[in-house]
Amino acid sequence: MTTATERAGYPLERIRNDFPILQQSIHGHPLAYLDNAASTQKPRAVIDCIRRVYETDYSNVHRGVHSLSQRATDRYEAARCRLQAFLKARHSHEIIFVRGATEGINLVAQSFGRSHLKAGDEILITAMEHHANIVPWQMLSEQIGTRLVVAPIDRQGELQLDALIDRLSAKTRLVAVTQVSNALGTINPVREIIEQAHARGIPVLVDGAQAVPHLAVDVTALDCDFYVLSGHKLYGPSGIGVLYGKEQWLKAMPPYQGGGDMIRRVTFEKTEYNGLPYKFEAGTPNIVDTIALGAAVDYLEAIGLDAIAAHEAELLAYATRRALEIPGLTLIGTARHKGAILSFTLDRIHPHDIGTLLDMQGIAIRAGHHCAMPVMDFFGVPATARASFGLYNTLAEVDALMDGLGEIIKVFR
Ligand code: ALA
Repeated sequence: MTTATERAGYPLERIRNDFPILQQSIHGHPLAYLDNAASTQKPRAVIDCIRRVYETDYSNVHRGVHSLSQRATDRYEAARCRLQAFLKARHSHEIIFVRGATEGINLVAQSFGRSHLKAGDEILITAMEHHANIVPWQMLSEQIGTRLVVAPIDRQGELQLDALIDRLSAKTRLVAVTQVSNALGTINPVREIIEQAHARGIPVLVDGAQAVPHLAVDVTALDCDFYVLSGHKLYGPSGIGVLYGKEQWLKAMPPYQGGGDMIRRVTFEKTEYNGLPYKFEAGTPNIVDTIALGAAVDYLEAIGLDAIAAHEAELLAYATRRALEIPGLTLIGTARHKGAILSFTLDRIHPHDIGTLLDMQGIAIRAGHHCAMPVMDFFGVPATARASFGLYNTLAEVDALMDGLGEIIKVFR
């Protein structure tokens, strides 16, 4: 069985062959890797890039006059331009390399938050945020007395947009919202949220960690003020990510961390900071993984994000259809617009048992609260089982998952 996208030329078999890790068995079964929202696997192009940089071009960046340092610097800065093109940012200096989406949000909370916000100011988030887009704002509240305001979701896991707009008050100084929910799959209307916030002069941060592997993103068209992503969810290495920020904000924000590379001149009396983007990249950066993130983006764009999105949409539609036939299965997150995430519970069977028993059949899913405990509280469950699809998944793997769930139900009957 194939998706219509495959029949139209989506090269699924070739793609699968690009991922060495997929060519293995787990507990005697072919691996079905359905935990892509937690982290994606890496194509050979990324793995080879890492090896080649270490073998041929590696040195520290921005510091040496020797050839290797210059080559490493050129490749590091080329990756910045690559990510600028990928996100369609106006300037390469609006791309700040960070450890991941989490560090990007923490950077904005500490740098923008501490310099632009004061006690009583409000930060508006949604009820479906990942902890990474909740806790940094709570830490800021503890530090300077800002207030966290939460826009509600409904039982489908959709954002109540009117309620969010109602909560945009004269005190709101930032809206921070996920583009795609990691726990529910909901795709939020970020364009509309940004328009509404901007009409009131309020900047918007978009958490794009779950969006960029599946949707073409254009930060200039979206007009968001900040956008964060994680490389490891984008078929790139872990420990590298991007904070995009509009030039006007980044220029007006103080450094997040101090150290080498973020300075122009240091004396014991005073330090003059470097310009963008280096002001926000203290210390030796994650050089090789940054370059490899550029390779991951090359790989994705060669396949085409629209084709990837179409293939994954078919996987999700098929998985949803089959899931609804399973007695005792409840889907958690049934928004009209969803990314390729299927969260569910099974009557009387704990999600961790589902995850463990599926693993015995070679099927990797995530079971837990997905770093979104308030979402679990809202739906009244301690955890869910979550299958999340990526560009290499097949309809046969969806069948394996659903058949596996059928077997588990028999065991617990
Ligand atoms: N945020 C990641 C997930 O959703 C780890 O699983």
